[in-house]
Amino acid sequence: MAPKLQWPIVTELTTASASRGAATGSRGVAPAVPRGSAPADVAHPQTIKSFVRRAGRTTAAQARAFEDLGPRFVVPYAPIAPIAPIAPAAPAAPAAGAWFGRNAPLVLEIGFGMGEATAHIARVRPQDDFLCCEVHRPGVGALLKRIAEHGLTNIRILEHDAVEVIDHMLPESCLAGVHIFFPDPWHKSRHHKRRLIQPPLVARLAARLQAGGYLHCATDWQPYAEQMLQVLGAEPLLRNTAPGFAPKPGYRPLTKFENRGLRLGHGVRDLVFERRH
Ligand SMILES: C[S@@+](CC[C@H](N)C(=O)[O-])C[C@H]1O[C@@H](n2cnc3c(N)ncnc32)[C@H](O)[C@@H]1O
Repeated sequence: MAPKLQWPIVTELTTASASRGAATGSRGVAPAVPRGSAPADVAHPQTIKSFVRRAGRTTAAQARAFEDLGPRFVVPYAPIAPIAPIAPAAPAAPAAGAWFGRNAPLVLEIGFGMGEATAHIARVRPQDDFLCCEVHRPGVGALLKRIAEHGLTNIRILEHDAVEVIDHMLPESCLAGVHIFFPDPWHKSRHHKRRLIQPPLVARLAARLQAGGYLHCATDWQPYAEQMLQVLGAEPLLRNTAPGFAPKPGYRPLTKFENRGLRLGHGVRDLVFERRH
C-alpha cells in the first residue's frame, strides 16, 4: 500500500515557518491547491495555527450586540488576491478608509480576547483607528458590547485568523502600529511552533508597518518575553525603542487578567520596536 503523504505546506504558510522567501515566491515547493483544501490522497491536512478554537458560550447580550452592531463594526475577511499557496508580497491598498469613513493612522491588534484593553485604548486614542482580529466569537461579542457602551467609532473587528489577514488583506507600509498583548504563550516546547512571535511573521509584520510605525508586544511569560526580545531584535527592519524591555506605554491599561498575574507575582514585559526609516 502506498504510504500516506505528509502535507506540511499549509503549515508553512501560517505562523511559524513562512519566510521572506515565501513572499518573494522563492520557496516554490507548494502544491497548486488553495489553502484549506488538500489533495485527495492526503489523510490529515494540518495547519499550525497560533490558536485553538475554544468552545465558548455567546451570551444573549453578546448575541444582541452581534445583531445590532455586527453590520457596522465587523468587517468581512476579504482576501485581496486569490488565496494562493504562496502569499503575494503586496496586495492592493486596504479598505481601511472605507471601513472607518476617514483616513487616520491604522493600528492592527492581534488577539484581543474579550477586548478590555482594546476598548480602553480606542477610547484614549480617538485620533487613531484600530483593526482588531480575534477568532474567539464570544470575545467578538464582548468587544461589540464595549463599543456600544462607550460609543466608540474607531474600532473595526475582523473575526478571522490575523495571520491570513496580514498575508492577504494588508499591503506593505499600511500600518501605524501593531498591538499583540499577551499572545498565547504555548508553554510546552512541542507547541512553541504555534507562537505568534517568530521570525517569519515578524518580518511580514515589519513590512506592513510604515517607517516610524511601532510593534508593541506584552507578555507575562518570561521565556516568551525573551524569545520576543531576541526575534524582534534580529529583524533588520525594526529597532528597539528601549535598551531591552520597554516601560509600559501609558495607553495600555492594566487589565483584570494582568492584575491577577501581578498579584500572583508574574512579571509583565512590554516590548516596543519601531520600523526603521
Ligand atoms: C491569551 S489571549 C489574550 C487576549 C488579550 N490580548 C488580553 O490581553 O487579554 C490570546 C488571544 O489571541 C487570540 N488569537 C491567537 N492567535 C490568533 C490569530 N492568529 N488571529 C486572531 N486571534 C488570535 C486567541 O483567540 C486569544 O483570544
